[in-house]
Amino acid sequence: MPDPNPAALKFLLTRRSRPAKTLTAPVPDRAALRPILAAAARSPDHGKLEPWRFIVLEKPALARLACLVPERGAALGHDPEKIGKASRQFADADLAVAVVSAPKVSDKIPEIEQILSAGAVCLALLNAALASGWGANWLTGWPSHDRDFVSLGLGLARHETVAGFIHIGTETSAPPDRPRPDLDAITEWRGA
Ligand SMILES: Cc1cc2nc3c(=O)[nH]c(=O)nc-3n(C[C@H](O)[C@H](O)[C@H](O)COP(=O)(O)O)c2cc1C
Repeated sequence: MPDPNPAALKFLLTRRSRPAKTLTAPVPDRAALRPILAAAARSPDHGKLEPWRFIVLEKPALARLACLVPERGAALGHDPEKIGKASRQFADADLAVAVVSAPKVSDKIPEIEQILSAGAVCLALLNAALASGWGANWLTGWPSHDRDFVSLGLGLARHETVAGFIHIGTETSAPPDRPRPDLDAITEWRGA
């Protein structure tokens, strides 16, 4: 017979992100962040390749990233509003963890599976932060996908990409839940 964990299931059935814009200090210190990162690093990983890594971005590092956004946005021809929004995402944050997808060369494990594992790490990190009582939000944005930004700003190697920036902080408000998918519309039951 199964051995249910009702508290864990209740958490999974009710969890939701807190918009990064509504997060503030205090943020978890390094000691408090370690178990959250450890939970994320327990994510399924076909072949045990560990095709991901973390970059913990504290306030000064986030400020440095915010400063890099205008230069890259101008080079890419983005309009000022788009540049300002992306810059504020870093400037207004107190703590974010960049989850870096870092696929390994493998004859057995396709790259797509390694990238999916990085996505799983993002969700596990988000959920571990939420379960620890913090507000958290998974964001990307155009700088995440700009090779020069991630290379200059984060030091990513050419084969690495940003799977997500997980913003973590103290929530100031819990917005209402958003509509959730209609299970019947997305689920096909095949008995035979
Ligand atoms: C890969 C990925 C990237 C995202 N990037 C952004 C983003 O840049 N800006 C944004 O407003 N939301 C972004 N979102 C959506 C937010 O994470 C949003 O808060 C989330 O879908 C809410 O889901 P939840 O309430 O079930 O936790 C992204 C989601 C994913 C999966």
